[in-house]
Amino acid sequence: MSKSARQSVETDLLLGMEDVPLAKLESQTESLSADARIAPTVVVAGASVTESARLSRSNPISGIPTSDSGAQLDELRMRHDRECLHCTTVRGHTHTVFGEGSPSAKIFFVGEAPGETEDLTGRPFVGRAGQKLDEMIAAMGLRREDCYIANVLKSRPPDNRVPLPSEISLCSPFLVEQILIVSPVILVPLGGPATKLLLKVDLGISKLRGIWTQWVPPAASGRAPIAVMPTFHPAYLLRNYTAETRAAVWSDLKAVMNRLAQS
Ligand code: URA
Repeated sequence: MSKSARQSVETDLLLGMEDVPLAKLESQTESLSADARIAPTVVVAGASVTESARLSRSNPISGIPTSDSGAQLDELRMRHDRECLHCTTVRGHTHTVFGEGSPSAKIFFVGEAPGETEDLTGRPFVGRAGQKLDEMIAAMGLRREDCYIANVLKSRPPDNRVPLPSEISLCSPFLVEQILIVSPVILVPLGGPATKLLLKVDLGISKLRGIWTQWVPPAASGRAPIAVMPTFHPAYLLRNYTAETRAAVWSDLKAVMNRLAQS
C-alpha cells in the first residue's frame, strides 16, 4: 500500500469508518484526485447589505476596519444579541449561540440550531453531534480552532424542533454577515436547513450533498462567490451510522480537503 493510501486509511479510522472496505476507499480517493465531483455551479442570491459596503474599507454598519475580523465578529455578536428580532423575542432558551472559531478560517461549517448542551454553554457543536464534528475535523487533519462554526439559528428552538422559515428569515442575516467577515474559502453546510438556506433550493440533503456549488454573497458586498460543499449533519450521521452514510460524509470531507489544498 502506498504511503498516501495508508494515510487515507488511518484518517478513515479516525472518522469511525473502519469497516468500509479499503478497495472502496482507494477508488474514492482516486476519483476525487481529479476533482471530478465539481458539478455545474448553482448561483445563489444572498441577503442585501448597504450599498456603501462596496467601496468602503470599513464595515458599513460598525465602521470597524475590514482587516480586523475578530473585532468585527465581536461587534456583530453584541449587535445580534441586542437586535436579532428572533433571538430577542423567543422564550425558553438559556444562551444565544453566536458561533466561534478563527476569524480568518478557510473552512466555515454551518449547522442548524443549538441543541441542549449548546444552549447551556453558549457554544456551537459541543454536545454529541459536536463530538462527531470534532472527529470529522480531526480526520481532515485540521484543528477545530482553525475552522469557524456557526448555526442558521442562534437560539435553541423549543423541543429541538427544526427552525421555522419565519425564524430563519429573522436570524440568518447575522449568519450572512458572519460569513462575509470570516470570508472563508469553503462553506460546509451540515444538513438540510443550512444547505437550503445557502443554496436557496428546496431539495433534500441527500440530493445536494457531495456536489460543489457556490454561495453568491449579497451584490452590495462586492464579494466573490464562495465554494459550498454540503454534507450530512453529524447528528444524522450518528443516527444512521452505516458504512454508506460514513463513506458519503468522508467523501465530502475529502473533496473539501482536496479543494483546500489547491487554494
Ligand atoms: N446541532 C446543530 O445544528 N448545531 C449545534 O450547534 C449543535 C447541534
